[in-house]
Amino acid sequence: MQSVIETQSLTKIFNQKTIAVNDLYLTVPENSIYGFLGPNGAGKTTTIKLMLGLIRPSAGSVRMFGAPVRMDSSDVRRRIGYLPTQPGFPDAMTPITYLDFIGKVFGIPRQVRIPRITELIRSVDLLPLSSSEIKRFSTGEITRIAMAACLINDPELLILDEPTLGLDPIGRASTVKLITELGNREGKTVFVSSHILADIERFCTHVGIINSGKLIFNGTVTEVKKLIRTNTVELQVEGKTESFLSELEAIPHITNVQSLRHAIRISIDPQYHSETLLDIFKILIERNLELVSLNLGSETLEEAFLDLLEEEKSHGFLRAISRRA
Ligand SMILES: Nc1ncnc2c1ncn2[C@@H]1O[C@H](COP(=O)(O)OP(=O)(O)OP(=O)(O)O)[C@@H](O)[C@H]1O
Ligand SMILES: [Mg+2]
Repeated sequence: MQSVIETQSLTKIFNQKTIAVNDLYLTVPENSIYGFLGPNGAGKTTTIKLMLGLIRPSAGSVRMFGAPVRMDSSDVRRRIGYLPTQPGFPDAMTPITYLDFIGKVFGIPRQVRIPRITELIRSVDLLPLSSSEIKRFSTGEITRIAMAACLINDPELLILDEPTLGLDPIGRASTVKLITELGNREGKTVFVSSHILADIERFCTHVGIINSGKLIFNGTVTEVKKLIRTNTVELQVEGKTESFLSELEAIPHITNVQSLRHAIRISIDPQYHSETLLDIFKILIERNLELVSLNLGSETLEEAFLDLLEEEKSHGFLRAISRRA
């Protein structure tokens, strides 16, 4: 599989003191939906600007579609749709006039431009607002019009810098759906940054995790899930639970049992995850206990991710991996 984006030893130091991006090697395969994950200030936006040739690297290089990126490589930019974090819009423009303007900038002929604008406005659910001033739009509506704008040139690659930022759960869900559709149905490559692990996990095929300018993980979503899989399970049970805790403790691969206010948190040796779950269920059935809820760690995935970042800070990521292996 060919890489659409490839960075080599990419580094950016601001004012000779802030190392925003530190020796980054990153590869984005064709047709992937690549999630670029990292906390605030990690270096996501800086990396994106370097990829687009908007700022100059202090060291290292970027290749897009196999060719080196230079400042203002306009031929490369034509093949990319870019959604900045807080997109600005000229005054007094409506979705129709704005998209028409952007379409003209790209030199798209009128007979292609007009139907495409209509289709885009529909696909981002802005038909009722198509003639309203963008200036008055809500955050979610702005994200949607900006998303439409970055699709106007039918780009092969979309680079979206935190498209879900500031959106409510409904706005986030519809943005995520749109990105997934673009990636899956239209075969585009999507590079999307976020600090929300749950969003990335839901729709990405590949993930890069950046922390303090360093790439600490680059791989598939399945790999990252295995890596940060929390080995804890939370159960809420009802019935005669007196001896249940000690019975759990007696199961060979359970390493810890903790009684919380409304649940029991069980830590399991990851190598024996499935067998151990089966053992737990057997006890539930034998004791005639009712399982009220079962949480296989999805809520704690966020915590696990933060732990991983912490761990990286103090020991380096490789040690974290070997400890979990
Ligand atoms: N133009 C600049 N001049 C000086 N320092 C900068 C500049 N742009 C970014 N930085 C610094 O570089 C680091 C990385 O910033 P960047 O904007 O890339 O992070 P980010 O991962 O996009 O964060 P966020 O999630 O908050 O958007 C930060 O410490 C930031 O203060
Ligand atoms: Mg940013």
